[in-house]
Amino acid sequence: MEASKKVNSQLLSKLATSDQHGENSPYFDGWKAYDKDPFHPTTNPNGVIQMGLAENQLSLDLVEEWIKKNPEASICNAEGVHAFKNTALFQDYHGLPEFRQAVARFMEKARGDKVRFDPDRIVMAGGATGANETLMFCLADPGDGFLVPSPYYPAFNRDLRWRTGVKLVPVTCESSNGFQITKEALEEAYENAEKANIKVKGVILSNPSNPLGTTMDRAALRTLVTFINGKQIHLVCDEIYAATVFRGPRFVGISEVAEEMAELVNLDLIHVACSLSKDMGLPGFRVGIVYSYNDAVVSCARKMSSFGLVSSQTQRLLARMLADEEFTERYLSESRRRLARRHEAFARGVGEVGIGCLESNAGVYCWMDLRGMLKEATAEGEMGLWRVIVNEVKLNVSPGSSFHCGEAGWFRVCFANMDDETLGVALKRIRRFVGGGEAAAVVKRSWQRNLKLSFSAGAVAAPRVMSPHSPMPHSPIPHSPLVRAKN
Ligand SMILES: Cc1ncc(COP(=O)(O)O)c(C=O)c1O
Repeated sequence: MEASKKVNSQLLSKLATSDQHGENSPYFDGWKAYDKDPFHPTTNPNGVIQMGLAENQLSLDLVEEWIKKNPEASICNAEGVHAFKNTALFQDYHGLPEFRQAVARFMEKARGDKVRFDPDRIVMAGGATGANETLMFCLADPGDGFLVPSPYYPAFNRDLRWRTGVKLVPVTCESSNGFQITKEALEEAYENAEKANIKVKGVILSNPSNPLGTTMDRAALRTLVTFINGKQIHLVCDEIYAATVFRGPRFVGISEVAEEMAELVNLDLIHVACSLSKDMGLPGFRVGIVYSYNDAVVSCARKMSSFGLVSSQTQRLLARMLADEEFTERYLSESRRRLARRHEAFARGVGEVGIGCLESNAGVYCWMDLRGMLKEATAEGEMGLWRVIVNEVKLNVSPGSSFHCGEAGWFRVCFANMDDETLGVALKRIRRFVGGGEAAAVVKRSWQRNLKLSFSAGAVAAPRVMSPHSPMPHSPIPHSPLVRAKN
């Protein structure tokens, strides 16, 4: 294996063989542990439950219902075959006008109809993954930097850096203010980048946040816009979770703030990435969108979209589905209702054994606070606990360090990629682990074995050292309620 790796590094390009993909992160190791031993209620009831996958499966039945009622929209069937030939032949990279129109309207609805989107600014990409990368290509040269508030989505490392050569500079956010982005933290990260001779070309962030599940308020967005405008750098808002805001405050997208501040700031600096992967629960369809207020970026991104077009069949199907406003309205409100219910069930379930989660109002996950369970407030301490959770409690949750969180002990737990029964099993396991006093014993046993357990999943990587950009302070935060429960 090592030998073939060496040969390949000579045969293949430097880019292809670089480790910028980030596959060696516990974020992906947890997925491997799940793949090796996946939970099934009857055939493998003791298997690993996948809580590391940010999918929104809760309302797919509504989409299925619509597809059954509108079979001709699927094209590759008897009802829709009349449109087959046109769909199968040449595709223009502008995208079908009816698709762009329907997507623009959907984006408006997902933002509470507070803002208008111009279909001519809608550019297709392969998911938000492709949209984000396209924006990096358009906005930065290899070696340039983008500031990114941490904790942040682990795959940003791959999506934004790997093929573009762009560098990410974390803006450290802290639990003391609910991980909100401050002007001071932005300034500090900017200065750090300058000191390291990195030319900062912009700020990128996800709002609602992955992994926090929080939304930025209008004032914070205005501060951000003022900051980027002052420096004349770009702002990329990844709004892939816009329609997952399941309770107040309502979502304020960057477009709303941009329109408000249009007279004061340079709108050419503002860009949005989004997709239907979370809002509609359709990650397999690979529908990503670049929306920019900058004409040159729209034009350049459109040319680049040849590398990540949405298939014509998918465009036609979605053009019909999203144009059915009765359906999208029902879907959006029902999806929010179900997410709220699921979030509540999870937060209440873990709360019963004293586990707290960051207060959130969006997303398909909770940011769970297990700081009180750490043997030591370090990245190693966090990884030790994570191993126990994956290999003994058999839950694939994602450790905060994989999100470049600067404080040890936070874990992202996804709750919308499973049915009610599976969530019930997961909660039972957590409660047994923590509430039964088992947690302390298991953690202690694991540490005594020097964290070298031969775990059943066998897929766990060696402890990971935090990135130099995200120092791990010894947490000044008082022990979480979990400690009290444990004691
Ligand atoms: C913040 C964020 N951006 C982008 C993506 C990638 O989404 P897509 O499946 O549309 O490529 C994800 C997926 O989890 C995400 O959480």
